[in-house]
Amino acid sequence: MLNKVEFDISKKGGQISKYIYGHFAEHLGRCIYDGFWVGRESEIPNINGIRKDVVNALKKIKVPVLRWPGGCFADEYHWMDGIGPKRDRKRCLNTHWGMVTETHDFGTHEFFELCELLECEAYVAGNMGSGTVKEMQDWVDYISCANGTSMSELRKENGREEPWELPFFGIGNENWACGGNMRPEYYADLYRKYQTYVKNYPGSSVRKIACGPNEDNYEWTDTVMKIASKFMWGLSLHYYTMVNNNFHNMGNSDKFGEDDWHSIIKYTYLMDKYINGHSKIMDKYDPEKKVALVVDEWGTWYKAIAGTNRRFLHQQNTIRDAVSASIHFNIFHANCDRVKMANLAQTVNVLQSVILTYGETMIKTPTYHVFDLYKEHQDNTHLPLTENPGDYRGLPQTSSTASINEETGVVYYSVSNADSENNAEMEVVINGINSISETTAHLLTAPEITTHNTMEEPDNVHIVEFSGLNISGGKITFRLPPRSVMTISIK
Ligand code: AHR
Repeated sequence: MLNKVEFDISKKGGQISKYIYGHFAEHLGRCIYDGFWVGRESEIPNINGIRKDVVNALKKIKVPVLRWPGGCFADEYHWMDGIGPKRDRKRCLNTHWGMVTETHDFGTHEFFELCELLECEAYVAGNMGSGTVKEMQDWVDYISCANGTSMSELRKENGREEPWELPFFGIGNENWACGGNMRPEYYADLYRKYQTYVKNYPGSSVRKIACGPNEDNYEWTDTVMKIASKFMWGLSLHYYTMVNNNFHNMGNSDKFGEDDWHSIIKYTYLMDKYINGHSKIMDKYDPEKKVALVVDEWGTWYKAIAGTNRRFLHQQNTIRDAVSASIHFNIFHANCDRVKMANLAQTVNVLQSVILTYGETMIKTPTYHVFDLYKEHQDNTHLPLTENPGDYRGLPQTSSTASINEETGVVYYSVSNADSENNAEMEVVINGINSISETTAHLLTAPEITTHNTMEEPDNVHIVEFSGLNISGGKITFRLPPRSVMTISIK
């Protein structure tokens, strides 16, 4: 089926914020413990307790920002429990995620060391649900104030002389549910109060992120924007893609048929609908688009793998998740005037993870490879395109995006073929370019819809070079295999 795409390199859109490629580390299942953190005494190679293999893999995809410690965990996290000598750290149960013991071995110092190792920025999610204003104020002080306060002295006693940079701070998480079951009016007023005490200490500049809606909860957005938009840098949005869009009857992550594949592709597109719906409401209160929409939880969500703790939300990751991730990125790019950050849930061992660990083994998932294929879009200028896609059972067969790196002049074009069985014939017309002198193309595809990487076969799904491009003037034609994602760089 023919898919036609056209764009013009002189007709530019906004900047694709690198933070759209953000990640999310929650104290949930094996994300922190076993995933990022194994402890100094572990035989698994580590840097002060943080897994080396995970750090190296994540550095390759240029993680720009990491959100922590939750999720629902954030609103029951008391940061003071996670500082100081390990033997004195408080133990409690992670009541939201499986009632397992939280040792607090991984706390503020460990998180910021992880960010330093990844060379990424920190997005700390503060506890508004069960924490006090003072507790939040003290945490910001402890992290970002250089001198002269009891909190900064305490940080120094605990081994960190210099303050850390705190570019992003979230005030609560899902406060309409696990974060306190609040009504939007109540949350908005409380937000105004808590954010007052999130201070910018000398040299620090914190961007404050308010708890936004789930899915299509437009009333939440309207109320919170009306009451509190003046006091925020960003408003969050959460949307998870599920089979049949049904939380109570999810499909499997690794064993499924074509209908479930189709369903995930279909409901991936709801992200576009929700972003546009919420943006329209935000426009009412913020026509200049100063407030960012921060999609700080997104991804596919299936039944937990059989035999694992149900509350650990551990799932596999197939080529289906890769195609869904690619469509997500294309949607985020197209809405980059409003969407300034997005954080995939969760980086390691939980929902749509990019990395899975099994003891000392680490594997990269198909979704990891999409982050790799798309990393060159970070901070580029978006090139809006017109698409005339073929049909895949009532859905667009393909989904595309393009951007230009203003420094190098290189154009990046990415596309996915969501069709489970058929090739997509592609015709990409690039206007404003005399002739294309050089291209490289990289492809991710798999023999079956359920193909995934395992400990035994870690490279079932991996990126390969693609040599099937036909170029004539400013036109590129090629045949894109089913179940695939591709990036072409064009000079
Ligand atoms: O990602 C799992 C959970 O989903 C998060 O903790 C919560 O914010 C959301 O409901």
